[in-house]
Amino acid sequence: MLGCDQHTAVLDHDAIVGLLTTVPAGDLYRRADGVRHDSVGDAVHLRGLIEFSNYCRNDCMYCGIRRSNAHVKRYRMTREELVETARRAVDIGFQTIVLQSGEDMHFDQAGMCRIIEAIKRMDVALTLSIGERDYADYKAFREAGADRYLLRIETTDTDLYHRLNPGMSWQRRHECLLMIKELGYELGSGIMVGQPGQTIDSIADDLLYFRGIGIDMAGIGPFIPHPDTPLAGEASGTLELALRVMAAMRLLMPDINIPATTAMETLHPQGRIMALQAGANVVMPNVTEGEYRRLYELYPGKICVNDTPVHCRSCIGLKIKSIGRTIGQGWGGHVTHRNY
Ligand code: SAM
Ligand code: FES
Repeated sequence: MLGCDQHTAVLDHDAIVGLLTTVPAGDLYRRADGVRHDSVGDAVHLRGLIEFSNYCRNDCMYCGIRRSNAHVKRYRMTREELVETARRAVDIGFQTIVLQSGEDMHFDQAGMCRIIEAIKRMDVALTLSIGERDYADYKAFREAGADRYLLRIETTDTDLYHRLNPGMSWQRRHECLLMIKELGYELGSGIMVGQPGQTIDSIADDLLYFRGIGIDMAGIGPFIPHPDTPLAGEASGTLELALRVMAAMRLLMPDINIPATTAMETLHPQGRIMALQAGANVVMPNVTEGEYRRLYELYPGKICVNDTPVHCRSCIGLKIKSIGRTIGQGWGGHVTHRNY
């Protein structure tokens, strides 16, 4: 059984390592589920995810759309397509839109601002997940109306980060997170669990780092090797460790938003439901349309590539109701910020 300490904020490095390794998984999940219930309630907030470009200037060793993967058929949506995709997502009920892409500088400051303004006129919350930009860009996007920004730190082990993200700087990524927070965005970050060379100790450090910088949202997913990357032959992360990390995150920061990630469902047909019962309170169904869904292949076996946004919305809605949870109303921001 877990210890009787209910005051989750006292968790230290060793206690987190215990949660990730020795505490029985079922006990941990139940405890995280209880903390989730008490802190953010039973509502599951849905975010419509639009993957609008698979061009990327980076070459992350694990990522299927890395710059040097010549097998990828590259695409980028036009502004009109993107705004229309958001419109259709809003029409089927989404109240948060997430725009995600590789680091595609074709979408410059002015271009992104026009897209942000058009989507914000639909009266929804808007999250950006478009990687590292400079302060002026983050500021302009915020002033154009973007509410939230998602940038995973991936790991706080700087040696591991520099090995797996050639040409990138951990310090720079960290500074991006600080800028995003200072500008008043809701700050989302997260890690990939099971990266080759990642240790349990470093994962415990990652969670403490998130508490230290005060994130509002934590996206935690397993690493899944992509055949056209240098990590093709490596072992996949496990669903159990990803769920444990997510559950420990819930204990450490009880009221933040935590998505049940798509990569979890790639490893198990009920992966997102398992996550919702182990601390998660958000799901981000894909609302990208047509061929683009398949072409945004970060890892193999991505779910729902042949489905439509309407189908995905209804499928996840039924799953959520089947476990006695409700679909969140409103924008579903971090509860400590929630004034809408
Ligand atoms: N370019 C933006 C950025 O860097 O934040 C957003 C897109 S990036 C592809 C989104 C996330 O996908 C990354 O933060 C990473 O954690 C995850 N990802 C990439 N390759 C993956 C893989 N092989 N398995 C699991 N997740 C992966
Ligand atoms: Fe840029 Fe993956 S390497 S999104």
